[in-house]
Amino acid sequence: MRVIAIDGPAGSGKSTVARRLAERLGLRYLDTGAMYRAITFAALRRNIDPGELDPVAALARKVDLEVTLDAVRVDGVDATIEIRGPEVTRAVSVAANPGVREEMVARQRDWARRHGGGVIEGRDIGSVVFPEAELKVYLDARPEVRAARRSKEVTDLSYETVAADLARRDALDQGRDTSPLTRAGDAVEVDTSDLTVDEIVELLTEQIGG
Ligand code: DC
Repeated sequence: MRVIAIDGPAGSGKSTVARRLAERLGLRYLDTGAMYRAITFAALRRNIDPGELDPVAALARKVDLEVTLDAVRVDGVDATIEIRGPEVTRAVSVAANPGVREEMVARQRDWARRHGGGVIEGRDIGSVVFPEAELKVYLDARPEVRAARRSKEVTDLSYETVAADLARRDALDQGRDTSPLTRAGDAVEVDTSDLTVDEIVELLTEQIGG
């Protein structure tokens, strides 16, 4: 099983880099943030308060999740667009729910086993989910660069709103008790602020001798 773990904060370039690297290495790609977003979507849709620990953990255990390269389905419903919207983004603190994390981590490991590994991106992939990964990468970028990238993706919110949301989510991701965002000790750290995607992919491919 060949696992490449890519972690880092929002806007650090994880998704773009992970997709390109997967293509380059002929591996599958898994966006674990989309899984936490999908659980948030499922809770909101059923009028379950995303902050309720037990009901949301129970929901996470039974929900049917399908996360592919270009679509996310939750109990058969296409949620690809909605999971990126402001409503889900603001309520995605379900990621701090230990029961939800336990279930998502189990599903991520199962996914990797079934596909012979993959390029897997998130916040705790190298530190918790796959500590034995062949390569662990921690991507980061200056806060204003990350906010500008996100701002380009979300056209209906101002730069200031996006930057404030990002700072709030950074604090939540780094400050939570269960699996906070941290750089694994043996991860390769790359500041993507002033690099092109090609340069980053090249650099990472060199790390694994490809
Ligand atoms: O990468 P993203 O912005 O789509 O992630 C959505 C949220 O899920 C983010 O606030 C952090 C959380 N997350 C997590 O806690 N662990 C992961 N492995 C992936 C994402």
